[in-house]
Amino acid sequence: MTILLTGSSRGIGAAIHTALTDAGASVIGHGTASGIPADFSDPAGPTALWNAALEQAGGTIDVLINNAGVFEAATLGDDDWTAQWERTMRINLTASAELCRMAVLHWQSRGFGGRIVNIASRAAYRGDSPAHWHYAASKAGMVAMTKTIARGYAREGILAFAVCPGFTMTGMAEDYLSSRGGDALLADIPLGRVAAPEEIAAAAKFLALEAPASMTGSVIDVNGASYVR
Ligand SMILES: NC(=O)c1ccc[n+]([C@@H]2O[C@H](COP(=O)([O-])OP(=O)(O)OC[C@H]3O[C@@H](n4cnc5c(N)ncnc54)[C@H](OP(=O)(O)O)[C@@H]3O)[C@@H](O)[C@H]2O)c1
Repeated sequence: MTILLTGSSRGIGAAIHTALTDAGASVIGHGTASGIPADFSDPAGPTALWNAALEQAGGTIDVLINNAGVFEAATLGDDDWTAQWERTMRINLTASAELCRMAVLHWQSRGFGGRIVNIASRAAYRGDSPAHWHYAASKAGMVAMTKTIARGYAREGILAFAVCPGFTMTGMAEDYLSSRGGDALLADIPLGRVAAPEEIAAAAKFLALEAPASMTGSVIDVNGASYVR
């Protein structure tokens, strides 16, 4: 079982990497600090990553996990608001879409299926702060894309799932919590704490390795009941 995992060098990605490796999977990582480097703000990044990963894998990738992403603020008055919108869309959504496309084509050409796990966000359903229109929209796009892939290719054994984490204690969440009053924000989470990266990793590992095929198209929330739908 060979898995391509984006953004594997830190945060949630590093926890997913550990969970999958502990389960015996062969993981091809991606990132600056470890794995195959590829900058998704560069339109050539996703294809370069896919080709390098395929070569490293010896020609077959069984599972794609799109985890890399950015959470950057863009205030309405910023002159570069549109440039920031496009940057977040490219890194969070377009790069994921291009990797999904290459994975689906790969699985179609080899004649048996594969799995996609997209790490989206609670923001896909709940929305986000006024400085994060782009982030919420990129994650909602990921969820819609996941469902579309699930419906389109299930007959070919190609399955697609999404995970929607709430606040998870990584660099991304620490910045957000401190910019929004720290502990006060925790009052919004019935569980009383943010998620641990290992909790998101448990959901991602389940979907990548164990989830029954009939679950294709589903989205798993991991948010301490801070948003229920
Ligand atoms: N933490 C949360 O509260 C939370 C909540 C909901 C959803 N999520 C989602 O979970 C995923 C992981 O989040 P995290 O909290 O673990 O984030 P993180 O600690 O900030 O790590 C982000 C990851 O994305 C990669 N990345 C960032 N910019 C990139 C670029 N331009 N090109 C390629 N890769 C890039 C980074 O790679 P490098 O190491 O190479 O920089 C890193 O591995 C993201 O998709 C995020 O939206 C997180």
